[in-house]
Amino acid sequence: MRAFEIQGGFGLERITLAERPKPAPGPGEVLLRIRAASLNARDLGVVGGFYVGAETLPLIPVSDGVGIVEELGEGVTRVKPGDRVCPIFVQDWLAGTPTEAMLGSTLGGPRDGVLAEYGVFPQGSLVHVPEHLTDEEAASLPIAALTAWQAVVTEGRVRAGDTVVVQGTGGVALSALQFAKLHGARVIVTSSSDVKLERAAALGADLGINYVKSPQWDQEVLRLTDGRGADHIVDLGGAATLNASLAAVRPGGRVSIVGVLSGVTAAGLDLIPAIRKKVTLQGINVGSHGMFEDMNRALALSGVRPVIDRVFPFTEAVQALRYMQEGVHFGKICIRL
Ligand SMILES: NC(=O)c1ccc[n+]([C@@H]2O[C@H](COP(=O)([O-])OP(=O)(O)OC[C@H]3O[C@@H](n4cnc5c(N)ncnc54)[C@H](OP(=O)(O)O)[C@@H]3O)[C@@H](O)[C@H]2O)c1
Repeated sequence: MRAFEIQGGFGLERITLAERPKPAPGPGEVLLRIRAASLNARDLGVVGGFYVGAETLPLIPVSDGVGIVEELGEGVTRVKPGDRVCPIFVQDWLAGTPTEAMLGSTLGGPRDGVLAEYGVFPQGSLVHVPEHLTDEEAASLPIAALTAWQAVVTEGRVRAGDTVVVQGTGGVALSALQFAKLHGARVIVTSSSDVKLERAAALGADLGINYVKSPQWDQEVLRLTDGRGADHIVDLGGAATLNASLAAVRPGGRVSIVGVLSGVTAAGLDLIPAIRKKVTLQGINVGSHGMFEDMNRALALSGVRPVIDRVFPFTEAVQALRYMQEGVHFGKICIRL
């Protein structure tokens, strides 16, 4: 089968289209014919050597995909040939709180990812996808949508009447916008682009703030909430946005620490607002199999679809990663096999 591999070192220039033997499912495993993949910020981090070491090479990159069940290993009962399923990102995290060992079982580094014609996965890691979604939309669920679901719904417990701030217009942000709207919240989106803010408004965003034109966007959030502050902030910027998120959240509110788009270490972090306002700071790590099934029920009932920016053919996977690096996308970048 054809598979992209990161070979002999890190960097986009180290990604090569290679031939590998078609894998065979062992007991409890399932062979999937991959139909589509989607990119996440993490994939660029893996390709850059940020998340995994050289001992994992050669590695098939890219975490998120959807496939059709082609062959069952001995004892498989959860799926049947022809089913359309996503392998979950944290492969061994089925429910509850993950252990350290489970957290190491992630696809697209250290485990081989989905940028290949076939893949073998444990049956417990597979989730049936809602029928109304295209393959590209379904491939956008495992990281971006599920992370937003955990942040906004499972842990965030957003309710009708809440004000939620979502940073940027990438994959996680737009899913967070959709899930917050589904739960009756008012949503403020921040973006570097007025055009993207208009597109976010068309998706249901109530208010937009251009964080380049208004670097003090936290003050803008306070103004838009009559000084009260937002109930919940989905922080995707990380180092450069956390102080502002703590300033913009209401007393007793919640900040979901999700992204590190501007860096992982926040040297000037001021903890006083978090303490004074009794803010709940919650780290979010994608989600479990159980959360994925909960999210899929909501997607099927509501008809909500992930937002797809652009679809690349399989052979242009490296161009797709370069396109992500440019940062001009709105929603998900996908690859069709
Ligand atoms: N904790 C988890 O489980 C988890 C899961 C998934 C992703 N993440 C993290 O979440 C972040 C977003 O991931 P993604 O896949 O959604 O990325 P993405 O699709 O590439 O989204 C990037 C967008 O974020 C916005 N952005 C960039 N820098 C920003 C900043 N300093 N402040 C505010 N917004 C900024 C930009 O939107 P505009 O162009 O509109 O300005 C940019 O287009 C990444 O750091 C990723 O590693 C974490």
